[in-house]
Amino acid sequence: MKYDIKNLTLDEKIQLLTGKNYWQTNDANGKLPSIWLADGPLGLRMANPDGTTKQSTAMPSSVVIANSWNTENARLQGETIADECIQEGADVLLAPGVNMKRTPLCGRNFEYYSEDPILAGYMAKAFIEGVQSKGIGTSLKHFYANNREYDRFVQSSDLDERTAYEIYLPAFEIAVQAQPWTVMCAYNPINGVWASENKQALTDILCGEFGFTGLVMSDWEAVRSGWRAAKAGLDLRMPFNPNEYGEVKTAYEKGWITEEEIDICVQRLLDLIEKTENDKKIITTTKEQRHQNAVKIAEDGIVLLKNEGILPLTEGDLLVCGPFAKAPAFGGGSARAQSDYIPKHLAVELVSASDGKIKADEQCGYFAFRSATSCDFMTDGFTVARKKDAVVLCLGTGFPIEGEHGDRTSIRLTELQEDIILGMAKYNENIVVVLESGSAVDVSPWIDKVKAVVWAGFPGEGGQEAIARVLTGKVCPSGKTSETFPIRLEDTPTGETRGNGFYESYNEGVFMGYRWYDKMQKQVAFPFGFGLSYASFEYSDLKIEKKGELDYEVSYLIKNTSAVDGAEVSQVYVGDIFCRVPRPEKELKGWAKTYLKAGESKRVCIKLNERAFAFYSTALKKWHVESGEFIIQVGASSREIRLSQSIELCLPYDEQYSTLSREIYE
Ligand code: GLC
Repeated sequence: MKYDIKNLTLDEKIQLLTGKNYWQTNDANGKLPSIWLADGPLGLRMANPDGTTKQSTAMPSSVVIANSWNTENARLQGETIADECIQEGADVLLAPGVNMKRTPLCGRNFEYYSEDPILAGYMAKAFIEGVQSKGIGTSLKHFYANNREYDRFVQSSDLDERTAYEIYLPAFEIAVQAQPWTVMCAYNPINGVWASENKQALTDILCGEFGFTGLVMSDWEAVRSGWRAAKAGLDLRMPFNPNEYGEVKTAYEKGWITEEEIDICVQRLLDLIEKTENDKKIITTTKEQRHQNAVKIAEDGIVLLKNEGILPLTEGDLLVCGPFAKAPAFGGGSARAQSDYIPKHLAVELVSASDGKIKADEQCGYFAFRSATSCDFMTDGFTVARKKDAVVLCLGTGFPIEGEHGDRTSIRLTELQEDIILGMAKYNENIVVVLESGSAVDVSPWIDKVKAVVWAGFPGEGGQEAIARVLTGKVCPSGKTSETFPIRLEDTPTGETRGNGFYESYNEGVFMGYRWYDKMQKQVAFPFGFGLSYASFEYSDLKIEKKGELDYEVSYLIKNTSAVDGAEVSQVYVGDIFCRVPRPEKELKGWAKTYLKAGESKRVCIKLNERAFAFYSTALKKWHVESGEFIIQVGASSREIRLSQSIELCLPYDEQYSTLSREIYE
């Protein structure tokens, strides 16, 4: 060990329990290097000495990566951001965020991946591997059950054990397989105990059960009591807290915390410092290549939600307008990277992507209505629209509607934006909506008035190129929703509620996201895993092979039956037909994104292991599989099942519980 804890005094060790300043760790009176921490999941956000933010590549938001259903995009995102960390001297990137998208209202949903834990978990795992492959650390966050911005510092997330293990922990459990160098604890209490002081969460589950071996840091200002946090398994309180030293020294003198307990935290910091000193920090991309990576990832994550024969746009005279026609929307807060890339108006990108076959008028965000809201052009957008072959409307949320520090109170677009769509539709029937939002939007007021909708999330600095290439067919859209689009907010498990300021009970239990809409048999606007394409795909020849007692191989053929090269995300869901605990109708247990040339077929193979069939038994304190019938479904979405087959699991009698009689096993 290069840095030996024996060389540190007790006072120096106590100093190390908190940061040196807002972004650096302490240096124990110069005995240690200080390491730099910097945000975030969508690009490097790092302060200059004068307090301004360094310029970096604004990558697509996490929702776009998840909508691509391709973990290679998560890895590429991690590798790309890591290059800028190396360039600017950041040692640990404060990302990825994997909190479950429990309500579409959460302001930070754009930074998170999905309503499904395994989709989120495997995206985060690949992101971590991408970043750390370049010798830069990560911080898996925010551990855990941080599913709202409302009252995030105070309101306790109140959830039962099975819900925690089946829904809110698995993304962390899967991501920890990549051994992130650090994990960041959440602000909120979990069942009444601050996440920063929650020994069950930080030590028993994260380290004991999930096998995490790195350092646990706090979210910024999340620690209420440094010594309690240290004892619970929180190793580093960020940012610097001037009171930390006194509090911990007093607790030590009172015998509330021992030097051995302090040493555990300090040793993890020393281990982290050692990790940052490696020979992997080699920049392999130029600024332009990083921009192209942003375009590539965005292209793969754009979801075609509706298309009544109008897309792809290959020629014609278009009006391109709306608040995000000039530049893509972005979410606000700590995740926002400051890019010096100046995007082109989508109209310009459409002309370019169509090789000049498209003519496109550039209009500003809002244009003059009859009620004379003014903008750069005093043109009445509607009369312009009347003369066009089609209108491309770039709408959505963006900051400050979506961002850290606050949640939406509605999932509808603003009244003005809805008016633009409805008004425009009176003057031109060929409306294409480009929706830019970090989470689901209630499209019901206008969806029937438009011919096509693409969902681009917050697509990053490369958004305009990516959107143009998808709209013109240069790229065949292949994204699928990583969260459900409910018809209205009231259909969601939480509706307009947001807790009472002290706690919020997760009453829906394991029935979150599509699990809820299935249980309640609710119609939705766009189901989990939904996305259209310019190509068409046939599913056939399902085979389910038993490889072991709880090891199955599910394989099936996918054929591109169109004349267009494309990619198809096929999803494998498992349902437990009868169980003595309430279980979701189906749960995602595997998926594949298969890139297929026109007419090409490929066989997809998905492995299912014990966890694909198990539920978390609070009676047995472990994951448990009940014998009986299970249904394996292969879907183009969670609501479009293309292939299915039942299997019967007959597990050893002595491992079963609450059986009726032995006879059924003999
Ligand atoms: C913020 C965020 C966290 C971020 C940290 C540093 O409050 O919750 O995600 O990494 O503080 O900016």
